[in-house]
Amino acid sequence: MASGDDKSASAIPRHVGIIMDGNGRWATKRLLPRPAGHRAGVKNITPVIESAFDYGVHCVSLYAFSTENKARPESEVNALVDLIRKRLRPMTRELIARGAKVVFSGDISYFPEDVRRIMSEICAENTDKTAKTVNIALDYGGREEIVRAARLAAASGEITDSRIRANLYTSELPDLDMIIRTGGEKRLSNFMLYQAAYSELFFTDTLWPDFGKAELISILNEYGSRTRRFGKL
Ligand code: IPE
Ligand code: IPE
Ligand code: MG
Repeated sequence: MASGDDKSASAIPRHVGIIMDGNGRWATKRLLPRPAGHRAGVKNITPVIESAFDYGVHCVSLYAFSTENKARPESEVNALVDLIRKRLRPMTRELIARGAKVVFSGDISYFPEDVRRIMSEICAENTDKTAKTVNIALDYGGREEIVRAARLAAASGEITDSRIRANLYTSELPDLDMIIRTGGEKRLSNFMLYQAAYSELFFTDTLWPDFGKAELISILNEYGSRTRRFGKL
């Protein structure tokens, strides 16, 4: 098992974002309906997060459902909401049992009442504020988040970087050190735009359901070899 113990602290990202793309193509390649790809994608979440935590990562943000994904055909959106309804509880229970804390980013008012209840029950289980964190972005859009945070900052009297940060969904999390996008596309698709300002970006053609521990570790190792300058010399 890879361990963070033998690496310097700066070589290990504290906060990793994952754009879990490629579920639909994974299913289509197998002549399966697209929701079968989403189901396979959900099964892959816990092992990947555990490998990241074993490596020494403190927080993982997962892009699970974007504000724009709501414009997909109704049958696909319903399948995704149903998957959240059925799988979110068991998946997070497993993560919480292993000591993690689960939080959500996004405008959850979109979801039906029973799904929102599942989310608030999960949040209520977060007792250890210092625990490793899984942040799940659901009905999440980076622009929506920034607009919302700017409005709240303005209402509080001043629009500053610190006031905007304090009103982001991720106010308690550090900036993203790195983002991994599976599925071959090289874009952020509205994922955590404010927090990504100085993220290291990694793109892989592997479709999300096929993305495993070995590739994750190799990407995390590559992160450790990059030089981050943050605009300085
Ligand atoms: C990502 O997989 C999961 C969601 C957007 C919910 P896609 O559904 O975008 O899969 P592809 O990109 O069509 O293969
Ligand atoms: C990004 O994937 C959203 C999630 C992974 C949840 P999309 O498939 O929605 O992104 P685009 O449409 O290729 O940009
Ligand atoms: Mg996609």
